[in-house]
Amino acid sequence: MTKIYTSADQIDFSISDIPSMPVPANVLMVKPTFFDVEYIINPHMHGHIGGVDKVRADHEWELLRDGFSELGLNIHTLEGEKNLPDMVFCANQSLPFVDEKGNKKALMGIMHASQRKGEVPVIEKWYQKQGYETLHLDPGKTRTFEGMGDALWHFKRKLLWGAYGFRTSQNAYEQISQLFNTPVIALELVDEKFYHLDTCMCMLSEQSVLIYPGAFTNTGLEMIHKLFDNVITANLYEAEKLFAVNATCPDGKNVLIQQGCTDVNKKLRDAGFIVHEYSTREYLKSGGSVFCMKLMFW
Ligand code: ARG
Repeated sequence: MTKIYTSADQIDFSISDIPSMPVPANVLMVKPTFFDVEYIINPHMHGHIGGVDKVRADHEWELLRDGFSELGLNIHTLEGEKNLPDMVFCANQSLPFVDEKGNKKALMGIMHASQRKGEVPVIEKWYQKQGYETLHLDPGKTRTFEGMGDALWHFKRKLLWGAYGFRTSQNAYEQISQLFNTPVIALELVDEKFYHLDTCMCMLSEQSVLIYPGAFTNTGLEMIHKLFDNVITANLYEAEKLFAVNATCPDGKNVLIQQGCTDVNKKLRDAGFIVHEYSTREYLKSGGSVFCMKLMFW
C-alpha cells in the first residue's frame, strides 16, 4: 500500500485494515549543553535571542528525562554539539522505522534552515551505532524534510501522517511512501506559528488524537476526523503559548505535556488518559516542547 491520500473521499480503508507496528521502547534525548536561542527560524523565537536560562533548561531537561524513565522507557542520551543550539530537538532530524522482519531503518532529514543542517550527520552517526540502516531522500527531487517534526506514525500502525508547508516539501512523501512501503495522509499546514505537524497534532492512541484545528485546512481536518473516532482539540492560547499539542503519549495512556494546559488536560483526563505535567519553559522560547525534545525509536 503506497499511496498518498490528500482528501477524505480518497480514504478507502479503516485503521484496523492497516498492518500493525510495535510501539517504540527507546527514547533518545540530546543534552542541552549548547542549547540557546541564537537565530530566528520560527515566530516563537522572536525576542528570545540569548535569553535562555541555562540552569533552568538543564533542570527541565533532566526532569523530563526522568519522566520518560519512570514510564519504563529505555533512555539514551547524546552529547550536544557546539554551534548546533537546536540539536536538543532530536525529533526533527530523522524518521525511524521498523519493518515486518524487525529491520531497523532511519530516513535522514534535509533541514529547512541552514543553521540546523549540521545536526543531521551527527544523528546519522548515532543511528549507525545503534544498528540502524540510514536512508536518504533524493535531494534532486525533495528540497526539505524535517523528520518527526512533520511525519508522525499513527499509534501502533504502519500509516504515516505527513505535513508540508513550512519545513517539509510536499513531494517528500512520494519518496517516503515508496521507501517504507507505507500509505501517507498528506496534511497541509497553514499557520506559521504551527510550523511542524508535532505542534498541532499529537497521536494519543489508535482511536484518539489531540489537534489544534486552526493549523489545518478543512480538507486536512476531514481526513483526521475520518480516521480518528476521538478528536480532542486544544484552544489557541494553550496550543500557541504552551505548546499543548507538542505533548507525547508513548504508550497510548500516559501523556507528558507542558505545565498549565488546564483545558486540554481536563479533556485528556475525561477521555481516560493520565496526564503528567512538565515545565519546558526554556524550550518554548525556541518553539519546542516535550514531543520534539526526544526521539522514540525501536
Ligand atoms: N528552534 C527549533 C526550530 O525552529 C525548534 C524546533 C522544535 N521542534 C518542533 N518539532 N516543534 O527548528
